[in-house]
Amino acid sequence: MSDLEALKKEAALRAVALVQSGMRVGLGTGSTAKYAIEEIGRQLQSGELRDVVGVATSEASDALARQVGIPVEALDPRPLDIAIDGADEIAPNLDLIKGLGGALLREKLTEVQARRFLVIADHTKLVTRLGEKSALPIEIARFGFLSTIERLREVLPAGRLRHSGAQPYVTDNGNHIFDAQIPEGQDIAALERTLKGLLGVVDTGLFLGMAERAFVAAPDGVTELTPAR
Ligand code: A5P
Repeated sequence: MSDLEALKKEAALRAVALVQSGMRVGLGTGSTAKYAIEEIGRQLQSGELRDVVGVATSEASDALARQVGIPVEALDPRPLDIAIDGADEIAPNLDLIKGLGGALLREKLTEVQARRFLVIADHTKLVTRLGEKSALPIEIARFGFLSTIERLREVLPAGRLRHSGAQPYVTDNGNHIFDAQIPEGQDIAALERTLKGLLGVVDTGLFLGMAERAFVAAPDGVTELTPAR
């Protein structure tokens, strides 16, 4: 396991330590969330945890959860006790960019219903402002996507349609993703409102005011961050 993978796993284990028997748990997506899912499965097998039910944020996480022995249910209106997921960027107030793995819509739908949303990451995900390192994934309807991209470019001129090989990338929900650069000095909350108001935009990878804490692993240990607002 590379050093970075070891850090992702360390962060994941810290969050899983907060999972208790009987909880309904939102299962994130990506290379960091994978370690959390595997650890919950391991603890269910060993008897350290009992009666945990997962709600998966992607087809891939659903498959992994079943493979490691976590019973999986569809999202319904009941609150989740906890949700654990990675992030692409973490701002000092714990606002996030998510969705480089393509699962942003199911992640947001699930994590907004969690009493506690815990973010797990290695230290490379920390930024001073959202958009510093990562593009912002924006999920858009497939129908008329070129028109939607024109509307998006009026707000965020630099960006491109995500591809998988020669074809536009298709999400678990049958939509496409436009990856946009956020210019410096942008009011992020205003940007989210504007994007959500654009015809053809399904959702954005901005997760604002949602995370309760973040476990961020660096070579000198795991830091537990709460929002500095
Ligand atoms: C999936 O769509 C994303 O939101 C991931 O949670 C995010 O990209 C972090 O992924 P990694 O843990 O693989 O970096």
